[in-house]
Amino acid sequence: MSLFSPEKFMESALKNLPKEIDGPAIIAVSGGVDSTVAAAAVAKAIGEDLLAVYVDTGYMRLNETEAIEEILRNLGLKYKIVDASTRFYEALSGVIDPEVKRKTIGELFIQVFEEIADEYGGDYLIQGTIAPDWIESGGGLRDTIKSHHNVGGLPEKMNMKIVEPLRDLYKDEVRTLARHLDLDVAERQPFPGPGLAVRVIGEATPERTEIVRQACHIAEDEIDKAVENGEMESPWQYFAVLLPVQTVGVQGDVRAYGNTVAVRAVQSFDAMTAQASEIPWAVQQRISRRITNTLKSEINRVVYDITDKPPGTIEWE
Ligand code: XMP
Repeated sequence: MSLFSPEKFMESALKNLPKEIDGPAIIAVSGGVDSTVAAAAVAKAIGEDLLAVYVDTGYMRLNETEAIEEILRNLGLKYKIVDASTRFYEALSGVIDPEVKRKTIGELFIQVFEEIADEYGGDYLIQGTIAPDWIESGGGLRDTIKSHHNVGGLPEKMNMKIVEPLRDLYKDEVRTLARHLDLDVAERQPFPGPGLAVRVIGEATPERTEIVRQACHIAEDEIDKAVENGEMESPWQYFAVLLPVQTVGVQGDVRAYGNTVAVRAVQSFDAMTAQASEIPWAVQQRISRRITNTLKSEINRVVYDITDKPPGTIEWE
């Protein structure tokens, strides 16, 4: 049981954040729980001085940009939506190594924000970093498990001062805070900062990203429906990954040589450990059939990842 008190957290945030942030600030909002909660908390503390920026990296979920715009509108914040997808696709062209991917995305994120901040005159960059992000990003005596985009990806020289109001919180505490602030993003499943780029294993080209975007949507939609029908409990996080593996299959009576999608669903409490979820067989079959039917010319094999964390991590990269 967490001893975290959202009332005390907000009391201290309202007292301390205006002292820490004494000028215009911008926050990168991804629509995930962390950045949305950070935006709502900081907006309460500094109000009009905050601009929320959503960057469409091209690696977002299906219909995510529209959903995020609605969240931002409902928060009543000043916000700006920037389509930077072409720049991100170009930056990741030819990049295969997961750490290079993460760092490239992190650096471009900051570059895009710095441009917006210059335009807007922002002195502070608010980030929704939470405890597991910096713990896993290494430093000091810790090993680097993976560089979370908002930690390891930051360039050494920054023009803006970074403020991370949720830095000491774990995921369950952020959700408690979200409920306290009456934000309906509280129940949204986590989505990694580098987005679908870390769910396309190998080069995250626009074409391969589109495949994983569809596959993720199908996996999410089928699991959501199964949860609604009472067939299973909701996993903590569930998605699809596109593998750089081609296998032989058959379509009608014609040989196919297509790509493989892995489906992953996990139970977790704070993302530091996770257990692979037991998905009923019928639900797995619906996911597999719908993915191979919808993406007929691309995918001819679907597998389910049964690895816990550790030894796996939740995302594949
Ligand atoms: P891993 O893959 O490290 O993920 O077991 C733990 C949780 O964090 C999410 N994740 C990220 N979140 N920036 C984030 O804000 C990142 O760079 C990042 N990488 C992974 C992941 O989806 C899971 O919920």
